[in-house]
Amino acid sequence: MPPPTPIEPKVTEQPSAEAKAAPVAFRFRCISCGDLSDAAVQNFRCSRCGDLLEIIHPSWVSGASAPAASDLKASWKQRRSSLSPVDLSGVWRFRELLPALENLHHVISLREGNTPLYALPRCSRLTGLPHLFAKHQGMNPTGSFKDTGMTVAASFARQAGFRWVACASTGNTSASMAAYAARGGLRSLVLVPEGKISWSKLSQSLDYGAVTCQLRTDFDGCLRLLQELVLRAPVYQLNSINPFRLEGQKTLAFELLEQLDWQPPDHIIVPGGNLGNSSAIGKALLEMHDLGLIVRLPKLSIIQAEGANALVRTMRETGGKHLISVQAETHATAIRIGNPASWKKAVRVLQATGGTCEQVSEIEIAQAKAEIGAEGIGCEPASAVTLAGLKKLLKRGFVKPEESVVLVLTGHLLKDPGFTMDFHRGDLFPVAGSDGEENGASAALQSLRRPPIVLDATLEAVIGALEQGEKSSPEN
Ligand code: F0G
Repeated sequence: MPPPTPIEPKVTEQPSAEAKAAPVAFRFRCISCGDLSDAAVQNFRCSRCGDLLEIIHPSWVSGASAPAASDLKASWKQRRSSLSPVDLSGVWRFRELLPALENLHHVISLREGNTPLYALPRCSRLTGLPHLFAKHQGMNPTGSFKDTGMTVAASFARQAGFRWVACASTGNTSASMAAYAARGGLRSLVLVPEGKISWSKLSQSLDYGAVTCQLRTDFDGCLRLLQELVLRAPVYQLNSINPFRLEGQKTLAFELLEQLDWQPPDHIIVPGGNLGNSSAIGKALLEMHDLGLIVRLPKLSIIQAEGANALVRTMRETGGKHLISVQAETHATAIRIGNPASWKKAVRVLQATGGTCEQVSEIEIAQAKAEIGAEGIGCEPASAVTLAGLKKLLKRGFVKPEESVVLVLTGHLLKDPGFTMDFHRGDLFPVAGSDGEENGASAALQSLRRPPIVLDATLEAVIGALEQGEKSSPEN
């Protein structure tokens, strides 16, 4: 195979007729040594010190040609009534704050973004927080927030002329990458840990035509291997180490603030796995603040599962200075990650926004997931850590009852049906008191369970079930 080619940014004119901003140039900057470069090698690591890269827009940093906040808001609003394919994307609609493609015809889009912001009245009552919302990224085309980053990174892969894209994944990244590769006429290679991701996630990459390898290792092992592979073969790496992914994932925050009429919430709470998403959201908040799109920074907090708590331990035991890796184990498969690649970026956004991190138990995750389900919304277990974490942050006094909170629900309920079925059938935590279950938690879980009922096909049996259901309804 030919050697890998560097990935170079281009300076281009703003593609939108109505946008008034100057041409956007972007550069790669190392997050540790600050080295600036115009090209990145395929593992997206600094060629001087080996740390991760981020994308910056030098003209904004110098203040020379920062786009005006009012122009941006007006352009973005106007595009909501446009029928052009890039404007219909909830990511490319915000293109002034993204690295610019040579030509917008290179965009690979599935109309990602445009996700709902829901009020959570039941969870509001439960937590005593009147201003509680969920930004549901599970409503993206392949069922997770990954699509918002994938549209950008896959488009750059195609522009750079790659034939193959690849990722390591706990499920959602692979589903998203496979879909965008298929739409863009690219081949895709998926590396997932064998037996550790749900069939519904795996089935997506199969259907979208990816070469799917189940490796006898964990996620961290898959990612290590991929990092070596991209240096040996002309394969474009689409994990969140790739800074183009994070640029796309920033748009969650732009869209959220637009939905809140640019009034920042007090807190945004997000699950943490490999820590790319929290880093992306934090970067967006800081950019919006710098550009005057918002006047106040929300606190961004990150929640992990107790069994995959590398960031929590890193913050508590080293003050964010050195990564403490863990052997990850949790039912929340999407965040079963012990050696998070973007931990330094995440520490930086926690510190810059005044946020915190917290860990939650398996039972707390299951309970929170059922509570979000009972809102008629639902999410996958990894997303439910946000509500479970919020309850702990309230207890700690970090979140105050009068404050406004947005939970980022990262993935769709249908992505982990095995977890949901096991929970409702009582198979997930079958023995009361196991898994560190506290007093009272068992009763709380029981009241949320709605197992399927097998009945004779008679009217009496169904009426009996109706009466039983009435007695156990949440309002009783
Ligand atoms: N929530 C869901 C639903 C996820 O799929 C992931 C990560 C996260 C949260 C954590 O995000 O890694 O940016 O901190 N899933 C990856 C995957 C790793 O392969 O799908 P993060």
